[in-house]
Amino acid sequence: MESFNVKGNTRLSGRVKISGSKNAAVALLPAAVITEDNVYLENLPDITDVRTMIEILENLGVSIRRRGRNALDLTPGKLSKIAPPYELVKKMRASYYFMGSLLARFGRAEVPIPGGCDLGPRPIDQHLKGFSALGADINIEHGMITLSADKLIGAHIYLDVVSIGATINLMLAAAAAEGRTVLENVAKEPEVVDLANFLNAMGASIRGAGTDVIRIDGVKKFSGANHAVIPDRIEAGTFMLAAASTGGNITVEDVIPKHLEAITAKLREIGARVKVEPERINVEAVDHLVPTDIKTFPYPGFPTDLQPPGMVLLTAARGLSVITENVFDGRYNHVDELKRMGAQIKVEGRTALVEGGNQLSGAPIEATDLRSGAALIIAALMADGDSQVRAVEHIDRGYENFEQKLIHLGALIQRINEKDYDQLSCNPE
Ligand code: EPZ
Repeated sequence: MESFNVKGNTRLSGRVKISGSKNAAVALLPAAVITEDNVYLENLPDITDVRTMIEILENLGVSIRRRGRNALDLTPGKLSKIAPPYELVKKMRASYYFMGSLLARFGRAEVPIPGGCDLGPRPIDQHLKGFSALGADINIEHGMITLSADKLIGAHIYLDVVSIGATINLMLAAAAAEGRTVLENVAKEPEVVDLANFLNAMGASIRGAGTDVIRIDGVKKFSGANHAVIPDRIEAGTFMLAAASTGGNITVEDVIPKHLEAITAKLREIGARVKVEPERINVEAVDHLVPTDIKTFPYPGFPTDLQPPGMVLLTAARGLSVITENVFDGRYNHVDELKRMGAQIKVEGRTALVEGGNQLSGAPIEATDLRSGAALIIAALMADGDSQVRAVEHIDRGYENFEQKLIHLGALIQRINEKDYDQLSCNPE
């Protein structure tokens, strides 16, 4: 296990180039197997989840040529297997996108049931309901989901829950289904739109991505395509919130401001100065932050992935702020760690009451997922005194060069390996 030693009382200031979107990349990579022709993807973030996805593709027989750190050529024509290996699939939930893309390519897929996560239960009933509506037979046994369809037939599917995963998975399968598929009550996230654009570049016929209704006319064959991944709005939002939290001044570059409107609006409500330009946003902290309510919702609402860093910011706003987590049942694992730093937070069901205004104090804390990990590092930077943030492997999953970017903004942060950490703590003075 690795940890970060973080010096407190740090103001983050400067410019940071935002990487490609993790949540777009982990959908685009499995989607590439829908074609036999070559695919070129660029602006891929160099993070653990992307490397795992590349390992899975190579295991399935796709030949991959790295073109620099953030780009690659894929040749899915040599794909020979339809069952991604369990030891890789269990590392990341997004592997379940191979259900949709392998079904579209071969009419068959065998994918292990995705692991749980520290965000509470994460069912895939909407994915399976949709695959069944498209004509797939589904068998679940020994932890494996086997899907097969002699022919996928277009259908009218109404999602009971707005789900990014289900929207993406069903778009993948429907792209090759015979006839028209209408998906209703779908997710409108930019990552869904990015995937639809990629599939259309490969010859799919998808309209309405980014709205409540997506219409897909299936096609028999797909071509290759070149595609650049959209910027990561969650990474950008994390740095924007960090600027306001640490009393700093940060410009996030290479972003799409439209994707960040909920965060920009909330930061202005809390009192930070936000200046928006076509491809960059500057956030300047102010001394007096205003307590504010945050309610998470599917896009274009305030994203659940920024609720943890949003909570950290609100600990610095004197007075009572109320957070309502409407997307996941259990996304408050970071609260206990923040309370160890002196935060005054009370959780009741989906609601967290944050009594802000007292400076946090440095402490040993532990990340439980990548977004809570990023939030805890921001808390450590703004706290009085030093902190050790453990289990930073979570952060490596979704934030490219996170500590280098923070150091560039003025952070004093050092990555240490746990065994070194133990040595440090057991060495007599
Ligand atoms: C995506 O997860 C993101 N992951 C998550 O980001 C993000 O937190 C989440 O969307 C919500 O925005 C990727 O894009 C790889 P959902 P996903 O299906 O698709 C319920 C991060 O930190 N639901 O939109 O799994 C579900 O339980 C990660 O980058 C069903 O009930 O989320 C949840 O309450 C964490 N049945 C809600 O819908 C289903 O079949 C939204 O989940 C599917 C989902």
